[in-house]
Amino acid sequence: MTAEPGERPRQPRPEDLRSHQWYGTDGLRSFSHRARTRQLGYLPEEHLGKPVVAILNTWSDINPCHMHLRERAQAVKRGVWQAGGFPLEFPVATLSETFQKPTPMLYRNLLAMETEELLRSYPVDGAVLLGGCDKSTPALLMGAASVDLPAVFVPAGPMLPGHWRGTVLGSGTDMWKYWDDRRAGLIGDAELAELENGLARSPGTCMTMGTAATMTAAAETLGMTLPGASSVPAVDSGHERMAAASGRRIVDLVRTGLRPSAILTRAAFQDAVATVLALGGSTNAVIHLIALAGRCGVELTLDDFDRVARTVPVLADVRPGGRFLMEDFHFAGGLPGFLTRLLDVLHLDRPTVAHPTLREQLAGALVHDPEVIRERDRPLADEGGLAVLTGNLCPDGAVIKHIAADPRLLRHTGPAVVFPDYRTLQRTIDDPALGITADHVLVLQNAGPRGGPGMPEYGMLPLPDHLLKQGVRDMVRISDARMSGTSYGTCVLHVAPESYVGGPLALVRNGDPITLDVPARTLRLEVSDAELTRRAARWTPPPAHHTRGYGALYGEQITQADTGCDFAFLARKGDTPDPYAG
Ligand code: FES
Repeated sequence: MTAEPGERPRQPRPEDLRSHQWYGTDGLRSFSHRARTRQLGYLPEEHLGKPVVAILNTWSDINPCHMHLRERAQAVKRGVWQAGGFPLEFPVATLSETFQKPTPMLYRNLLAMETEELLRSYPVDGAVLLGGCDKSTPALLMGAASVDLPAVFVPAGPMLPGHWRGTVLGSGTDMWKYWDDRRAGLIGDAELAELENGLARSPGTCMTMGTAATMTAAAETLGMTLPGASSVPAVDSGHERMAAASGRRIVDLVRTGLRPSAILTRAAFQDAVATVLALGGSTNAVIHLIALAGRCGVELTLDDFDRVARTVPVLADVRPGGRFLMEDFHFAGGLPGFLTRLLDVLHLDRPTVAHPTLREQLAGALVHDPEVIRERDRPLADEGGLAVLTGNLCPDGAVIKHIAADPRLLRHTGPAVVFPDYRTLQRTIDDPALGITADHVLVLQNAGPRGGPGMPEYGMLPLPDHLLKQGVRDMVRISDARMSGTSYGTCVLHVAPESYVGGPLALVRNGDPITLDVPARTLRLEVSDAELTRRAARWTPPPAHHTRGYGALYGEQITQADTGCDFAFLARKGDTPDPYAG
């Protein structure tokens, strides 16, 4: 069953539903499925023939950002029942940014695979996706896009603001800041214990414009959530209402047959890129949006980000780049209000899960606080929140969140101090024998997609103790790693190709001059081509991290940062037959 974008819901015949192949046909298997439905406690004659909605729930005891999703799944079910659907909850892998090591990025594609295969292999007509902690958003959307069944995303929502001694704390951002103060000897055990109590006060995702807030805003801009859903605080009663409304909406989407492929178009991705940049959002969005676009057959490149970044200013005065937190953003108008600041760059005639067009979706949206959501002529920064660099140190590109950097360092030449891996860096960074000064450029190797493995968020390399005590708070840092969206500093990230596969980053040696020039968008290793060729000839690949299991599959299939770090066999074009088709 398919429909044109914007078509109004109609009641499908039961035999039009995909789930009918499991339940409604005349044969042994349907007989068995109906018997087992009775075993689940349902009467097939009452429930079957309705749209079957899978609620994919990333709730887990280990994931504080999703701890409320167990209750929210009940609200979604309520909405599905109200609209005449049949809800079934499926637990799926949780990707807890805080606890999962070496990094949840190692498992983003695993959750995407699980999402796709689970939806394909069960009698499902549509899905509601519950997630929000960093990688869970792109993973769920990538899976849903690949299986291309109607889907609505329910963002977990930001946690309450942090508090400490009258100061409002932001997730991640203030953790790094006060940890540096601790290392500099400025705060003691008592203060640290108080900070532990005040940093994360409720369920929900990080309440700064980190990766979670950036990616859920991207999901809303793409058109995969209800309007305003991405910033509703996790513990606000409005969050439960949004979850129930999402349950009602997915039943309508099944009836109209509006699928992700009609929503996730190049125009939608262009709008998501503009939004992420105008929010001053996380650099991780570059990787995730390129990967998601790849699943949709849409070509999205680093150049798209850099081109748009030069035309769209940063308008969200939200930490880490600005002053406020996500709750302030929500009450200032949330994403619908924010998007009214970008009407001239958005594609307003494309559909969303909620409305036939984005134009209709934004009708009536308002900004209530221009301090939080700035006017176009009073931006936080004149250019979008990140820059794409090229040069002989990053032939396939690198990324820097320059609005979170010390402006003095955006044009800088300094000698390299090279760390071959993160453990070595942790062990030696404070060693006075290294003679590190504030002018040095810290270089971390082997922290990329394969080298990390999983491209951990090591990119905000710690500064040496003795410099922190002198008051130094930023230096130029370069790696093939990622950086938390809540981090800050002059950190060049996502260097591609990565050092682990022999990219030029692998050839840097202590003392080599490196020039960063963000206005010119370049990153250069000031070493002759002849010398680099000599070094490359002597370079040998490091041993594989994993020789069996999922890690081995990951190592064989993972693509580089500039193409989204998807698995090659998932990103490529091809057919996957529906299990009952034919
Ligand atoms: Fe889950 Fe930040 S740790 S969103």
